[in-house]
Amino acid sequence: MSLNINLQEFKIGKHEREKLHGHKSFLIWFTGLSGSGKSTLANLVEIELNAKGISTYVLDGDNIRNGINKDLNFSSNDRSENIRRIGEICQLMLDAGTLTIATFISPFKIDRTIVRDKVGSDNFFEIYVNTSLEECEKRDVKGLYQKARAGEINNMTGISSSYEAPTNPNLEIFTEVQTVEESVKTIIALLEKKIKLDE
Ligand code: ADX
Repeated sequence: MSLNINLQEFKIGKHEREKLHGHKSFLIWFTGLSGSGKSTLANLVEIELNAKGISTYVLDGDNIRNGINKDLNFSSNDRSENIRRIGEICQLMLDAGTLTIATFISPFKIDRTIVRDKVGSDNFFEIYVNTSLEECEKRDVKGLYQKARAGEINNMTGISSSYEAPTNPNLEIFTEVQTVEESVKTIIALLEKKIKLDE
């Protein structure tokens, strides 16, 4: 299909925006079950980065599904479309020179790989928030697991919809044995090297 689209080139690019921000843009991608602790970690990582003067933005599952992805449900196809669109948004955020923190269950390996390939693996850091289903169910902050067990929710990740854990994440966080402070410290230390502008 020809849409007669011509990409426009602008004088100010990613590099100029990164220079203005004083750091490189980068994408931190949290994946894990619902209730694994992704948003908690993202929140604390963003607070630390903000205090260091770094331009950040958090893209979160529940928020995105309340807006731009309102039309999507939790079928496999819609989850893939959810992540595809988010990948496009991440690409724009990176182009804007922002350190982007994405927190999505993103249960399918192929979808996470598509995002990685889209933004480039040098700009992408996958963090697997490895919290067991038992623990997530015990926490059940949103009451979703209880509803899923009662048959009131279909396609619940971990119960009636699969979660493909990363086999080779850049970092794995075990929230059942590490404190949140330890995890945040580890993430920040790894990030600082990656977002430093070349001299
Ligand atoms: S994803 O699977 O498509 O990546 P996403 O991260 O956007 O999911 O949204 C997950 C959030 O939606 C969960 O944190 C939870 O609050 C809510 N949710 C509602 N229904 C479901 C469901 N069936 N499975 C998983 N999460 C659900």
